[in-house]
Amino acid sequence: MDSNEFIYGFTLKSKIKSLFSSQICFFVFFIMDKTQILTQLSAISTKDELETWYQTYLGKKGSITLAFKEMWNLSPEDRKIKGQELSSLKSALEREYQQKADTFLNEEINALLEKDLVDISLPVKKLEQGFYSLLVKTRREMEEIAQSMGFRIEIGKEVVSKFENFEAVNIPISHPATEMHDTIYLTKKDDRGENYVMRTHTSSAQNYVIKKYWVPIRVVLPWKCYRFDEMDPSHDTMFYQMEGVYIDKNISVANFKYVIETFLSGVLKKKVEVRMRPGYFPFVEPGFEIDARYEYIDPKTGEKQLSKRLELLGAGMIHPNVLRNAGVDPDEGRTGFAFGIGINRVTAMKYGVKDIRYFTSGDLRFTRSFA
Ligand code: PHE
Repeated sequence: MDSNEFIYGFTLKSKIKSLFSSQICFFVFFIMDKTQILTQLSAISTKDELETWYQTYLGKKGSITLAFKEMWNLSPEDRKIKGQELSSLKSALEREYQQKADTFLNEEINALLEKDLVDISLPVKKLEQGFYSLLVKTRREMEEIAQSMGFRIEIGKEVVSKFENFEAVNIPISHPATEMHDTIYLTKKDDRGENYVMRTHTSSAQNYVIKKYWVPIRVVLPWKCYRFDEMDPSHDTMFYQMEGVYIDKNISVANFKYVIETFLSGVLKKKVEVRMRPGYFPFVEPGFEIDARYEYIDPKTGEKQLSKRLELLGAGMIHPNVLRNAGVDPDEGRTGFAFGIGINRVTAMKYGVKDIRYFTSGDLRFTRSFA
């Protein structure tokens, strides 16, 4: 038998020598040939068996490892020859082991892939795509049109001091107008010891934007307002308003009428005509209530028709006190107008919705019908 075939290829001479050497021989002496070990390996069918096989021969306490340790009992010449034999045997076994281990790994991966198999030819369930609510859609369109007319966009704050909501825009706290607004108060108090409020109108930001951007100014503020109102088809406790503030030299009511008609025509995508009625708002003088109607073609008769008038906004020339409160001297020739449009009402008009409470009801049948 070729000595190369032995796992432990000590000659008898060296074996006897080692047994009688002063060192203690502690490992179990045995002889097994390479073919036998590999036959064992090829019979292995599980990962656990493979691991046991590895530990038996190549592990820390495996016979090959121990044989290397025992090598020190041999004469230097024997050690050299046997060492080489042992090393080549060790690498041959390691190679075979690795191959077997790879086979197991591949089998495992294939089994996993098989389990997770995705049939890409199967028709998929259609994903539902989200869409904007009517209010958001309209608000964005209004913003775009305002921007195209040179207005910048500002949101302002929903929670404001009582001062900002009322006094800064010329509404004395004792004024009946404060009742008209049915304010929602918060328990938190400001520096003046007054409760904060949920803004009842976007006009509460007039003072802040004028101070921020100074004059001349063209700003729209589209966002939420809150009132402790009875809810009905045209009133909700939370609603969207868009405030417009336009201040420059020699601005007149005629300028306002042109701007608002152009703006509303853009938003409703129809030719809009406004009617201005006197209206009372403490922060403007004179003040107006604005009703709008538009031209449309009757689908039944094909004839031009005028829609019903709908009250859409409050507006007016900014009161000198409001300008003064923001630090602008009204006597220096700066004048301007402000308007506050109900975004919910514009949306209702645009889409022919009879009750503005639908917009925030969360009723998907309503929302989906405009998707
Ligand atoms: N703030 C008023 C309201 O909420 C609307 C308005 C804004 C009126 C600006 C005049 C000028 O009803």
